[in-house]
Amino acid sequence: MAEWFDDEAFWRDLYPFMFTQERFEQASDEVEKIIKLTGVENGAALDLCCGPGRHTIQLASRGFTVTGVDKTGFLLQKAREHAAAACVDIDFIRQDMREYVRPAAYDLAVSMFTSFGYFAKKGEDIRVLSHLHKSLKPGGILVMEMQGKERLAREFQPIGGRELPDGRMLVEYRTIYDGWSRIHNKWILIDGEKARTFRLDITAYSGQELKDRLMAAGFSSIYLYGDLEGTEYGPTAKRLIAVARK
Ligand SMILES: C[S@@+](CC[C@H](N)C(=O)[O-])C[C@H]1O[C@@H](n2cnc3c(N)ncnc32)[C@H](O)[C@@H]1O
Repeated sequence: MAEWFDDEAFWRDLYPFMFTQERFEQASDEVEKIIKLTGVENGAALDLCCGPGRHTIQLASRGFTVTGVDKTGFLLQKAREHAAAACVDIDFIRQDMREYVRPAAYDLAVSMFTSFGYFAKKGEDIRVLSHLHKSLKPGGILVMEMQGKERLAREFQPIGGRELPDGRMLVEYRTIYDGWSRIHNKWILIDGEKARTFRLDITAYSGQELKDRLMAAGFSSIYLYGDLEGTEYGPTAKRLIAVARK
């Protein structure tokens, strides 16, 4: 059975909301911060679930040899167009994150903007992390950036809505299930008289849960932060960042 993230229409319809010009602009600053946080300044980099290539292109522009992996053809096409416009050469690969592995190939791997926790089976998330571990060179570093469960719990709202920059409305219903492990999102996209419903399920990771999964995948030195500047992962953390070394 197809899973929610296999639906190209989901990524296509929500593209103007998820990948705004502002988010594209932020990626340059985010990559600068990743370089500073990890100390990895050059070499080979993997952007797992690269989407339209926001960080892929910024890494390549700074001289990294970059591989961008994603499953969604529509987003990879966008990434290729952006890379061509930026005159950077990137190896884009269409593959499921559970399958992609290139042993001891990378100095740096990134998983940005909550591109993790999509699978119902815990083992599949660990499989992704094990492949990332395998794909790093010894001493290589993985950076993961996502919404943390601590903030989600602090600010949880079962219903929300907003007007998108292009005038459409997005109504969101959120349900927590499986003992506060998973979140079910029902998103209704309203475009004039038409409405379309998307359903997406994501595992919400606390800092400690993410650390445990990374350890289970073989990472030894793992640090958690609340932003890419390296602020402590404390009560006011906006994001959950893990920096794990092989
Ligand atoms: C929220 S987007 C983030 C994209 C990108 N990392 C960014 O920061 O702009 C999540 C991405 O994960 C990709 N994705 C979802 N499920 C996947 C899977 N099973 N294997 C590979 N990519 C997947 C989607 O196509 C999408 O590009």
